[in-house]
Amino acid sequence: MELFEAIKTRRSIRKYTDKPVEDEKLRDILDAVRMAPSWANYQCWRLIVVKDKATKEKISDLSYVESFFATKGYKSNPSKKALAEAPVLVVLCADPAQSGVLWNQNYYLVDAGLAAQNLMLAARGLGLGTVFVGVYDEEKLKNLLNIPPAIRIVGLFPLGYPFFYQIGGPPRKPIQEICFFEQWGKSDKV
Ligand SMILES: Cc1cc2nc3c(=O)[nH]c(=O)nc-3n(C[C@H](O)[C@H](O)[C@H](O)COP(=O)(O)O)c2cc1C
Repeated sequence: MELFEAIKTRRSIRKYTDKPVEDEKLRDILDAVRMAPSWANYQCWRLIVVKDKATKEKISDLSYVESFFATKGYKSNPSKKALAEAPVLVVLCADPAQSGVLWNQNYYLVDAGLAAQNLMLAARGLGLGTVFVGVYDEEKLKNLLNIPPAIRIVGLFPLGYPFFYQIGGPPRKPIQEICFFEQWGKSDKV
């Protein structure tokens, strides 16, 4: 798939068919993560690929954080079922010590975000669907997966063949609203 088509048609996919994800495709997606840019090329990301059904179900159960969702009126994470039912679940971790901090900016989150976007676009390009799941009980998840204390979990990515092709989705702000020219606040035509 052409790059711009993948960018424009990628959407959060939360329901999948039973078709397994081929090992070659999984490998290509992991390779796309590997190729992401990072602070000083330190490559702080680490990934855990989960296929075991019982483990996916436990992860799914940890995807609701009451203090976050209850205030927003959600009864569960919209991706709870996706986490349990996707054929593959990728847990994206990062080691903050292997990235930079400058003027109070923690670049491990940027590194991991770039890795995440590569993962999601590669999945789209290969006809697979995924969603960035960022709300979960991190401490319990770390215990479950034996993740060392200094490592952070940045996102969960259920991965599978889309049950249906999602056309459209949450709208985006127009360029005029998000982009200034020459100085903050100065608009122009694009
Ligand atoms: C950092 C981050 C955290 C997210 N966390 C969740 C989540 O916990 N559950 C969920 O269902 N979707 C989650 N999403 C998906 C967003 O809701 C989704 O990307 C956004 O609504 C735009 O829709 P689209 O991906 O279909 O374009 C998250 C996305 C990002 C980037």
